[in-house]
Amino acid sequence: MNKLRIAVQKSGRLNEDSMRILKDVGISIDNGKDQLKAAARDFPVEVFYLRNGDIPQYLKDGVVDAAIIGENVLIEKGEGINFVERLGFSKCKVSIAVPKDAKENSLKDLAGKRIATSYPKTVEKFLAAQNIEAQLHIINGSVEIAPNIGLADAICDIVSSGSTLFKNGLKEIEVLLKSEAVLAVSPKIDAERQAILEKIQFRIQSVLKGRQ
Ligand code: PRP
Ligand code: MG
Repeated sequence: MNKLRIAVQKSGRLNEDSMRILKDVGISIDNGKDQLKAAARDFPVEVFYLRNGDIPQYLKDGVVDAAIIGENVLIEKGEGINFVERLGFSKCKVSIAVPKDAKENSLKDLAGKRIATSYPKTVEKFLAAQNIEAQLHIINGSVEIAPNIGLADAICDIVSSGSTLFKNGLKEIEVLLKSEAVLAVSPKIDAERQAILEKIQFRIQSVLKGRQ
């Protein structure tokens, strides 16, 4: 029997809650993150531990059948990939922020400014919708430092507790989107694996109801 291949974040903010929900639906994995791939004990499932940003491409290629991933990552990198369930954890926003004493107060004040971000497509889409042109600087991490070192006038990144913004003397001026972990599905999933996924999805729904 073919196994359903599920990708989860290898390490980072989603990993722990992702493993917990799999466990709660009866998918127990013997040993964790040292292996990049692990089979479940009592279910036709294999878990792949991957880098967050790589997961959309694996779904597109059909190398994995499903994934637990942040909706924000799907929006940025997962065009054409659907999700079937919101999972209720890893809630965050993708926001634009500026130094707390800056005069910019909204997206339109950013015309002609420099914005540092790890979410270029998301930012571009919002700027284009309001006919604003700005200069994007793509950075992969520690984005909030950019205004302090003179690299940018504004940043766009994930805001969860808000503590990174606060520590870097930044204020949020615009929320581009709200996100949480979702169960995403490869457009290439086959019928046999689709049937396994539906069973898991059904169990996930019961678990989520129980958590309310
Ligand atoms: C993430 C994100 C923000 C921060 C938001 O960074 O890029 O910087 O968390 O969380 P907070 O609002 O609770 O402070 P992370 O710490 O994962 O590091 P990175 O940016 O270097 O990837
Ligand atoms: Mg960060």
